Amino acid sequence: MAQLLSKSLDQYTEDFTSPEMEVLAQLNRETHLKIAAPVMLSGHLQGAFLQMVSHMIKPRNILEIGTYTGYSAICLAQGMQKNGHLQTIDINEELEDICFSYFCKAGLEGKIIQHIGNALEIIPALNETFDLVFIDADKQNYHLYYDLVIDKVPVGGYILADNVLYDGEVVLPEEEQSKNARAIHLFNEKVRQDKRVEHMLLPLRDGIMLMRKTGV
Ligand SMILES: C[S@@+](CC[C@H](N)C(=O)[O-])C[C@H]1O[C@@H](n2cnc3c(N)ncnc32)[C@H](O)[C@@H]1O
Repeated sequence: MAQLLSKSLDQYTEDFTSPEMEVLAQLNRETHLKIAAPVMLSGHLQGAFLQMVSHMIKPRNILEIGTYTGYSAICLAQGMQKNGHLQTIDINEELEDICFSYFCKAGLEGKIIQHIGNALEIIPALNETFDLVFIDADKQNYHLYYDLVIDKVPVGGYILADNVLYDGEVVLPEEEQSKNARAIHLFNEKVRQDKRVEHMLLPLRDGIMLMRKTGV
């Protein structure tokens, strides 16, 4: 992942961010020890950001696309209303148990609903609205996830999408971009053209697109 700040500034930023909750620190460690591709986990700084956003929005219903080991789901659930719930989707059934055990450790059993399967098939079957959506699955399908969720988000609701700088590759000439970076760039372009959302690209970690729905 591209280093947006120097190593020492990265460290300073973490030092002046509230410490990782113990359950998240444990999950972070276990993911790095036992699970493939731990770079996918949001981590301390981005997790703290998601937590803060959730506390600011106080969402009732949250949708997450791309659970992995559940780190971001636990962060996003922190600011959720008492009667709310978070639905999270992942295609990898091998991750179901580790997620569930950490959702329980975090006291979120019954609050987080796990779906195992292809998000492209699961999202259309979810008959509810979401005040907050976090898109963090396969990059080629970001544009489709956006199309599938936009009508499920009320005006005033938020959509966040992770990895929108794609390791800095989005600024390379098209012929030098990987397929994923190209897909992410086209997704960013789609968001820029969409009059239904106000948006900002936050250069945190690998880039987060923040979108607020302003019209239908
Ligand atoms: C970057 S990881 C998610 C990280 C997690 N949100 C976090 O911050 O800890 C992406 C996840 O998307 C899942 N995924 C990929 N394609 C998918 C699909 N079509 N439907 C659902 N999940 C998918 C992968 O199995 C992987 O666990």
